[in-house]
Amino acid sequence: MRRYEIREPKGIASLQLVELESPRPGPGQVLLDMKAWSLNYRDLAMPRGGYPGNDKVVRSPPLVPLSDGAGEVLAVGPGVKEFAPGDRVVTSFFQDWDDGEITAEGKASALGGSIDGVLSERVVLNARGCVAAPPSLTFDQAATLPCAGVTAWAALTEAGARAGQNVLLLGTGGVSIFGLQLGKLMGLRVIITSGSREKLERARQLGADDTINSQEQPEWDARALQLTAGVGVDHVLEVGGAGTLERSLRACRLGGNVSLIGVLSGNPEQNPSPLHVMWKRLMLRGIYVGSHRQLEELCRAVEVGHIVPVIDRVFPFDAVQDAYRYLKSGQHLGKVVISR
Ligand SMILES: NC(=O)c1ccc[n+]([C@@H]2O[C@H](COP(=O)([O-])OP(=O)(O)OC[C@H]3O[C@@H](n4cnc5c(N)ncnc54)[C@H](OP(=O)(O)O)[C@@H]3O)[C@@H](O)[C@H]2O)c1
Repeated sequence: MRRYEIREPKGIASLQLVELESPRPGPGQVLLDMKAWSLNYRDLAMPRGGYPGNDKVVRSPPLVPLSDGAGEVLAVGPGVKEFAPGDRVVTSFFQDWDDGEITAEGKASALGGSIDGVLSERVVLNARGCVAAPPSLTFDQAATLPCAGVTAWAALTEAGARAGQNVLLLGTGGVSIFGLQLGKLMGLRVIITSGSREKLERARQLGADDTINSQEQPEWDARALQLTAGVGVDHVLEVGGAGTLERSLRACRLGGNVSLIGVLSGNPEQNPSPLHVMWKRLMLRGIYVGSHRQLEELCRAVEVGHIVPVIDRVFPFDAVQDAYRYLKSGQHLGKVVISR
């Protein structure tokens, strides 16, 4: 079987295919025949050596990249009750975070970062590190759920989002488009920004209620306030980081909720002013993907809510470097997938 490894992290070209013997499942483990994977913004950092400042998260190379995959169970080890050969599963981002608050062990079990990931034709994982894929989804679609899908799900549910409220989404990447789809499923009014007119048109087709072109309207926080009659939004899925946080705080209503998710812009070490948070009594919540239980919840919501993940483009397993370059270019809307 073949898998990708990052041996010397010198950029996307350091993703190399290697040939290995197929692994065997031990007690409590499953052997997966992987069918599809999806890329997240985080994955671009790994061929550069990982996220700076998150020392416990990124293992030193060689590293098998990627957290997100879907496949079929080929064999199970002794004691496995959860799955049988032929079952379709998705991988859980944290292999050792079942439920509740994250623990140090859970945090140190992130696939494709602190431990080897799944960009391999065959993968052995603990059975409790996998979740049954939603039956209505193809492998390509199911492979989009573990990171971006769970992150949007955790952000909205942990902030107590409920029908009739509104949510502001920044850009049209993987997390934001899941935020759009889940937001509509939950009965929220979705306001979304993008630097591209075409992407905003597509977001409208996907159900966005209001769109803001952040190129034409750099003061998108003022527009969000206007759209909510000066009150401000109930929720923000903050994927922009230091470069957008101040505006996200301004766009919020009194007592609004900001889910701190991303680092797309600005200097992550920069300190934003705490004043809006204090005067508006805002709730700021750090989101780091989510637990095994939250992935299970998302899979159920996707099935019951007939959500079809939005895939922008699919690349073959042999063209993984092209898939990474495409994600890096930022041309996509939704998810970039690799398929076998
Ligand atoms: N904390 C967590 O658990 C967690 C989980 C998943 C992702 N993340 C983080 O969340 C962020 C988004 O991840 P992703 O996988 O969804 O990324 P992605 O699919 O690569 O999406 C990036 C998109 O965001 C928009 N964008 C780029 N720069 C921006 C900026 N300065 N301000 C506002 N929007 C901007 C662009 O959309 P337009 O072209 O439409 O403008 C771009 O296509 C990343 O920083 C990632 O590391 C964190």
